[in-house]
Amino acid sequence: MKFFVDTADIDDIKEMAATGLLDGVTTNPSLIAKSGRDFMEVTKEICGLTDGPVSAEVVALDHDTMMKEAEVLRKIADNVCIKVPLTIDGLKTCKALTTDGTMVNVTLCFSANQALLAAKAGATFVSPFVGRHDDNGFDGMELIEDIRLIYDNYDFDTQILVASIRHATHVLQSAKIGADVATMPPAVIKALFKHILTDKGIEGFMADWAKTGQTILR
Ligand code: E4P
Repeated sequence: MKFFVDTADIDDIKEMAATGLLDGVTTNPSLIAKSGRDFMEVTKEICGLTDGPVSAEVVALDHDTMMKEAEVLRKIADNVCIKVPLTIDGLKTCKALTTDGTMVNVTLCFSANQALLAAKAGATFVSPFVGRHDDNGFDGMELIEDIRLIYDNYDFDTQILVASIRHATHVLQSAKIGADVATMPPAVIKALFKHILTDKGIEGFMADWAKTGQTILR
């Protein structure tokens, strides 16, 4: 499973990239607003921090303007992935862009039928929002299972990019289901490394090693 970081914060992206485990970045208008940076400028900077796809979202709601915005965004760098909402206009834009060889991430997916439409529109990625789904009384992971089943039934190439991840259990469940990508806030990626027994184990080994009075680097 690929790991994307879900942020427009440059320091966080650099920290995640330094682990060697980062496969891409997702942003959205809310994350850009939170960064306080110019959209084009920060997106260009992010594209230079990873070789993987960097999702940059259009803000128009009609197909013609989405195409114009996509034209501007895709000139930022070769690894820009145009993010469009799961609407009729968004999917028309997705079809046109992917036919032209541009990567597209279809976002704000909340049903398996919507994911089916995204795949038929040739989406590179579909982003089901598991956290927001859970928040509204649905089961985000059931949605991922349904999409996996449908995509496997028809051999769709569209990658399932699990979004709106809130905790490490979402990541574990996504991996068990066979989702292709998880995009996570930096805090969730960091939480994956943690285990109380790892910390306790290190503490014990360090205490015993100190008793030997030895060093490895001499
Ligand atoms: C990523 O592509 C999505 O925009 C993001 O994961 C949404 O997360 P949120 O529901 O925490 O805002």
